[in-house]
Amino acid sequence: MKNIETLRWNEDHLEMIDQRILPENFEYISYYTAKSVADGIYSMVVRGAPAIGCAAAYGVALEALCLSKANLEDFLVGMEVAFKILLESRPTAINLFWAVDRMKNLMAETNEEPEAIALILLKEAHKILREDIEINKTMGSFGAEVLSNNSSVLTHCNAGALATAGHGTALGVVRSAVESGKSISVIADETRPFLQGARLTAWEMVQEKIPVTLISDNMSGHLMKTGKVDAVVVGTDRVAGNGDVANKIGTYMVAVLAKRHNIPFYVACPLSTIDLSISSGDEIPIEERSANEVTGFRDYQWASKGVSVRNPAFDVTPADLVTGLITEKGVIFSPNAKKISKLFEG
Ligand code: MRU
Repeated sequence: MKNIETLRWNEDHLEMIDQRILPENFEYISYYTAKSVADGIYSMVVRGAPAIGCAAAYGVALEALCLSKANLEDFLVGMEVAFKILLESRPTAINLFWAVDRMKNLMAETNEEPEAIALILLKEAHKILREDIEINKTMGSFGAEVLSNNSSVLTHCNAGALATAGHGTALGVVRSAVESGKSISVIADETRPFLQGARLTAWEMVQEKIPVTLISDNMSGHLMKTGKVDAVVVGTDRVAGNGDVANKIGTYMVAVLAKRHNIPFYVACPLSTIDLSISSGDEIPIEERSANEVTGFRDYQWASKGVSVRNPAFDVTPADLVTGLITEKGVIFSPNAKKISKLFEG
């Protein structure tokens, strides 16, 4: 398969791969309004922080196109509704808020009529998509340097092409290392309850013939203890100003295990995922998803009816467990508030 296009623009609408039905089925769904894009984000047709950001940017552009024949006043009212709907779709990934803010600010500084504004916003959404791929490739080349030849890299969730506009963040590091001639194999945590590892990471690696071994989430400690893991590389949904990292539920557990076994734990993190407005991971909102993701999968429910369930979709790994943040400006070893704020200087 050629490069995976997680989202793509087709003449007058957005198309997104339906990630809920992978790998059995590969289908695109078409989107024409901000509301439908917000539903696609909430229901996880599209997921992964950078991909959510790109989808939200297109959601804004689509709404502007829908409203482009209205007068300016009605246009602006309609756009405010669209911003709100998109911002409420998922709470943890900061890229959603980053992308909507970027579109909103651009709209505010554009002194044009709705039709022209809509085209400017669409152009910006295309730009966000292109930039994301470029950033992932730059991050990938920095990250590739920290992986040794013949290493086995454990990853959690899916931070691949499917979680971004292309190439991926954590899997982008793996891809870039392989492209640079290194022999890398991947250990994919299955990532209960939504199975992003089993369904998406494994699929991406199999497509590209990068050796991948699937494990269930409770096996990583044993593999680390028996010397089968050389490095951990994960993505992130939001990094606080002090370097605390929110990522898919279970990441914290992996980071603690990596520390116990002296295995480096890297986080691939575009600058758009760093939230300088919060000083600690305790302030990151953690999405709680519906119980039926835990009591079963898709239509098959195996847990006892009436059981009480928790389903936090993310957890926070404290900065002191992070060996390095891999960014498009280089690798920040032992991240802390000072090093992170320096990234944004100049
Ligand atoms: O719930 P998801 O599938 O959106 O969670 C995705 C993750 O946790 C990823 O690791 C993160 O967004 C980084 S993706 C480059």
